[in-house]
Amino acid sequence: MSVGPPADLFDRLEAAAALVRDRAGAAPAIGLILGSGLGGFADSLGDRVTIPFGEVPGFSPSNVPGHAGRLVVGTLGGVVVAAMQGRIHCYEGHAPWEVAFPARVLCKLGIRALVVTNAAGGIRAALRPGDLLRISDHLDLSGTNPLVGINDDRLGPRFPDLSAAYDPRLASRLYESARKVGVDLKTGVYACVKGPSYETPAEIRMLRALGADAVGMSTVPEVIAANHMSVPVAGISCITNLAAGLGEQPLSHADVAAEAKRAHARFTALLTSFLPEAVAAVA
Ligand code: HPA
Repeated sequence: MSVGPPADLFDRLEAAAALVRDRAGAAPAIGLILGSGLGGFADSLGDRVTIPFGEVPGFSPSNVPGHAGRLVVGTLGGVVVAAMQGRIHCYEGHAPWEVAFPARVLCKLGIRALVVTNAAGGIRAALRPGDLLRISDHLDLSGTNPLVGINDDRLGPRFPDLSAAYDPRLASRLYESARKVGVDLKTGVYACVKGPSYETPAEIRMLRALGADAVGMSTVPEVIAANHMSVPVAGISCITNLAAGLGEQPLSHADVAAEAKRAHARFTALLTSFLPEAVAAVA
């Protein structure tokens, strides 16, 4: 399998976007990717249209428990939101460009901002399960990149700048929302590893020495693709566990998804306040 995208990536994106546009009716202003255990937020959107990933050309079905594998387009505070309930990952065997494909489709639909969320292990000592963390920057340790392969200049430049990969205007708005709804929003650097095995305690010590505050197996491919397409990004991690070696318990995906679900009320309150404001923040 070649890691690079097919030569007709642009046309495939157009085809997928056309189907979503056709089914959803309204053009989304905000794209949202909901990570493990966080998909329930999409159920709070109004006037929902639900499209299973399998019905969108080019989308691969998600095979991870806790990822429903649906695109939900609906309204929130007068804004149309396209929310992915689940995502695909490199560790499932997908090429990096395939992992970024849904985010690119959202960008093609004309979203003004992409909001990415995930479940993550807490590395920094002060982080506790249940904390919500604004991703301020990332360390990509996945060993690959969704832009590997031929670049289509219609999508973006060969060498995109990532010096503000997480948009500072969205960051300030996110803090305002957190204050309004009484969420103690943390901030930190997210390290993306390939997985699917969780890290060893030695790897966590290495990640901490490198400046990582949280660790997970997703998000960065979508963030790189959105930046490539000049779409501003905000990122939120739900800290679901102490990273390997920092707690007493062995790590399990079931516990990760359950802890993310426990954060549902605060996560929903934060996004419900933030998403309608996000469009104005980047106008
Ligand atoms: N490591 C990697 N990915 C994760 C973790 C973790 O501790 N928790 C949730 N996703």
